[in-house]
Amino acid sequence: MIRLDHVSKIYHMGEEKVMALDDVSLSIEDGEFVSIIGPSGSGKSTMMNIIGCLDTADEGSYILDDQPIETYSERQLARIRNRKIGFIFQNFNLLPRLTAEENVELPLIYQHVPAGERRERVEEALEQVGLSHRRKHHPSEMSGGQQQRVAIARALVTHPSLFLADEPSGNLDTATGDEIMELFHKLHSEGNTIVLITHNDKIAEEAQRKVRIQDGRLSV
Ligand SMILES: Nc1ncnc2c1ncn2[C@@H]1O[C@H](COP(=O)(O)OP(=O)(O)O)[C@@H](O)[C@H]1O
Ligand SMILES: [Mg+2]
Repeated sequence: MIRLDHVSKIYHMGEEKVMALDDVSLSIEDGEFVSIIGPSGSGKSTMMNIIGCLDTADEGSYILDDQPIETYSERQLARIRNRKIGFIFQNFNLLPRLTAEENVELPLIYQHVPAGERRERVEEALEQVGLSHRRKHHPSEMSGGQQQRVAIARALVTHPSLFLADEPSGNLDTATGDEIMELFHKLHSEGNTIVLITHNDKIAEEAQRKVRIQDGRLSV
């Protein structure tokens, strides 16, 4: 379902060129749980941005569910992101003025899902992450672990074909991070595809398959 074929990404900093991704090829099948591990600056976020259709490659091709991404307009990419990909970030990226349930509802509003169905799906998603009792709370009234669970509910409410997580437990203590990893294992056991980006070896080991990145290059 994910196929990166000789993908390179180059950033220009004045005279200097940074090869953030250097001839990266990788395939990930439906239902796989893959971790991408590498030190800071190795190209993990650049790779996440390409896999998540937030950015495009300078060289090579990216094929997601048989669709070559580089042929799409920005508008089509936005639609693919919204429909197919559930993003989970290190800093949760919740909207502070919205309650937990309003944050989770947002992607369904973008998809023009009718109000009644939205309510049902939001409730179901919050229940899946064990947060029904916090649905009226704002992010500032929740712990980091709870905020990340809201973010996971927001990702799963659209039934994405891919969960893409960039250091999801990076801002959490170990015990809370373990709880978040439990949720990813549950999502995986339910048939979901998960790509988890981390610099933490122990977390990377939890995936079915581990891919290493260093200086923009992959090694398995
Ligand atoms: N927008 C940018 N402009 C210039 N250089 C960038 C930009 N984003 C990332 N880089 C550089 O690309 C390399 C890979 O960065 P990144 O993908 O963020 O790594 P990681 O997520 O593994 O820390 C680094 O050398 C970084 O400094
Ligand atoms: Mg990063």
